[in-house]
Amino acid sequence: MPMQLTRRDLAKVAGAGAFGVAAPAGAQPSEGALPQRESAREFPNGFLWGTATAAYQIEGAVNADGRGPSIWDTFAHIPGKTHNNDTGDVANDHYHRYRDDIKSMKALGMAAYRFSIAWPRVFPQGTGAPNPQGLDFYSRLIDELIANGIAPFATLYHWDLPQAQQDRGGWEARDTAQAFADYAGFVADKLGDRVKRFFTLNECAAFVELGHGSGVHAPGLQLPPGRLNQARHHVLLAHGLAVQAIRARSRAGTQVGPAENISVALPAIETAEHIRAAELATRELNAPYLTAVLEGRYLDSFLANAGAGAPKVAAQDMQAIGSPVDFVGINIYGPAAYVRAADGEAGFASLPMPAKFPMMNSSWLRIAPEALYWGPRNLAKVWNVKDIYITENGCSATDAPAADGIVHDTDRIMFLRNYLTQLQRATAEGVPVRGYFHWSLMDNFEWADGYGTRFGLLHVDYATQKRTPKLSAEFYREVAAKNRVA
Ligand code: BGC
Repeated sequence: MPMQLTRRDLAKVAGAGAFGVAAPAGAQPSEGALPQRESAREFPNGFLWGTATAAYQIEGAVNADGRGPSIWDTFAHIPGKTHNNDTGDVANDHYHRYRDDIKSMKALGMAAYRFSIAWPRVFPQGTGAPNPQGLDFYSRLIDELIANGIAPFATLYHWDLPQAQQDRGGWEARDTAQAFADYAGFVADKLGDRVKRFFTLNECAAFVELGHGSGVHAPGLQLPPGRLNQARHHVLLAHGLAVQAIRARSRAGTQVGPAENISVALPAIETAEHIRAAELATRELNAPYLTAVLEGRYLDSFLANAGAGAPKVAAQDMQAIGSPVDFVGINIYGPAAYVRAADGEAGFASLPMPAKFPMMNSSWLRIAPEALYWGPRNLAKVWNVKDIYITENGCSATDAPAADGIVHDTDRIMFLRNYLTQLQRATAEGVPVRGYFHWSLMDNFEWADGYGTRFGLLHVDYATQKRTPKLSAEFYREVAAKNRVA
């Protein structure tokens, strides 16, 4: 039976005090009597604090040193596709300023950095002859990181497909999966002496749906369901073949895993039956991507829903897709759904989200700090994942410099303090989260939202390329230095 909460139940809960414990009659706050329980908020020893970025969002230098065009160069140059017709042509000019940007990471006390390698810098045509100068940029970046005591975590695909590969069918073509695996194996061979952890593709669920379903991201396609499912399948296959290629061509100790935006199911109320519902929902809501990768199969419910539009799956595909990974990276911003227990086969029901749910500055970013508890907790519980990284979390905030030139982004600090408190709750319970990468180091090209939306700890003045730490940078530096929520 689903639990029906009535107004009377709610009144009962309220009557018991916020945490179910009634305050003793006549209790008064006493000055200075609060215990200092700082250690209660600590993260495990060795927890990695880092920041994350992506190539097209920060590098600029789109024609430098033999780089080929990507689908994002093409898309951003079509009038009306991005806010203000912004493009990544110059972006943060990180290609030329990476040394200073690494200094900023060091000043923040970062132990790790997640960046992405632009496939069209390394293989300008997607396949064929590699471009040594393109690879060399990443080699120099990695050397500089290591010289500054920052561990490099490399993502192999953060949405910038070589345009030449798109012209050969892009993710609709099965060959693209193999082309990606070849590129991934090549990079692991060349950079795996210094990069110990690779992520395959960033957020398949986002770039497939937004780029091939709604068409609001590159390459701007609106595919019918059957073709969309086939593109999804090729993307999963690309992940699996890349895992295999990296294992075949890298040195011992190199680790590989996905960086996926897990759909986080939150129990509307934290009781055993709703928690169970959230676990069931986790498998179902992630069926097109993470569930397929972690189980090596499509769920029956997913295939039944797809009907005649189900992907065509060749022999060995699912085995490749389910290749064992060393860790799972998850990007978490808002919740996918609040759920409750329900009768019926699925065992859960997604609740409607109120229109006035608290939001940050992006039209999609609902504030639900407990997502950073339930996301990793359910990942560990449902699939028994032993090593988890939060590969992205952060928010767009107000971000306007005050008269003193400082961005007093107390809204971002509010967001981070609450999300990190929930992450700490997870690690304290033994959920195996090994590190956290804040999105993003600095404001950058926010895809279709152009430069109008800012996610950085460093404010970027795009006219001068001046980076100025926001108040949240100070907050995050404290968190990293003390290894606890500041
Ligand atoms: C993406 C980033 C993006 C961020 C904020 C993530 O989905 O991986 O590239 O900038 O969210 O929208």
